[in-house]
Amino acid sequence: MGKLDGKKAFITGAAMGLGEGIATAYAAHGAELCLADINPRVDEVAERLRSEYGARIVTAHMDVSAPGSCASAAQAAIGGLGRIDILCAIAGVCKLCDFLSMSDEDRDFHIDVNIKGVWNTVKSILPDMLKNGKGSIVVMSSVTGDIVADPGETAYALSKAALVGFTKALAVEYADRNIRCNAMQLGYARTPMAEAIAKQSNPSDPEAALAEMAKAIPMGRLAKPVEVGELAAFLGGDESSYITGSQFVIDGGSTLPESVMGV
Ligand SMILES: NC(=O)c1ccc[n+]([C@@H]2O[C@H](COP(=O)([O-])OP(=O)(O)OC[C@H]3O[C@@H](n4cnc5c(N)ncnc54)[C@H](O)[C@@H]3O)[C@@H](O)[C@H]2O)c1
Repeated sequence: MGKLDGKKAFITGAAMGLGEGIATAYAAHGAELCLADINPRVDEVAERLRSEYGARIVTAHMDVSAPGSCASAAQAAIGGLGRIDILCAIAGVCKLCDFLSMSDEDRDFHIDVNIKGVWNTVKSILPDMLKNGKGSIVVMSSVTGDIVADPGETAYALSKAALVGFTKALAVEYADRNIRCNAMQLGYARTPMAEAIAKQSNPSDPEAALAEMAKAIPMGRLAKPVEVGELAAFLGGDESSYITGSQFVIDGGSTLPESVMGV
């Protein structure tokens, strides 16, 4: 008996990285899934999870920054699964650039995908949850913006901090209708995004940059995507039935040190 048996979940950003890790944890816990992404690789992830876990999975090719695309994906998901109990809004982007050099287009790219993308996705799925009288929404924020930041992250940080405000406001507005909404605040996980950041900071030796990131984390390593998937499974499922509007830091202790001494 899986803890997500009978649950139907819609996961954006599922073609790779954290979305794929979350989809893997959800399939392992028995959920039926709609895996959504702009990248058609999402079909390969679905095929792997069907064969590894016998999971019932539909896919949707969609762009979270486009409201019409989100609406079509939601329709396909509800058509394919019958209803949606859990929404994991994971798709996101990150481009590092110092503030004065960052173009307005790159700033807007973060706003369009990271902020409006979550907005659009929730707007497309929430009506079905309200119809069913229940729902759990898991938003992918970050420790970046709300708690910490590094140089080059102004656009990314503003977009991820905005999601904390969004989570709290949505949670309080819909609490009396049995809809919960919580935010995950991750430090670093090894994903294509983290690998791209490492490549940008040390083009000739990205593995050295990843090792440096790990060294600054008290647990000495980046998260595995499936570890974030376990938090998402807790927040999406009934074990967290009295939790809403909360922020969950999952960072191997990276935001703990008061100084760099001893790290
Ligand atoms: N990796 C980390 O260390 C880390 C830390 C904190 C927060 N996050 C957040 O977690 C989420 C996933 O990050 P990741 O590291 O897996 O990134 P990733 O780049 O490895 O994967 C992101 C996924 O989102 C999809 N995507 C991007 N734009 C999209 C769009 N417009 N419409 C639909 N899908 C789109 C991509 O195709 C990809 O499959 C992001 O929101 C990111 O900001 C990541």
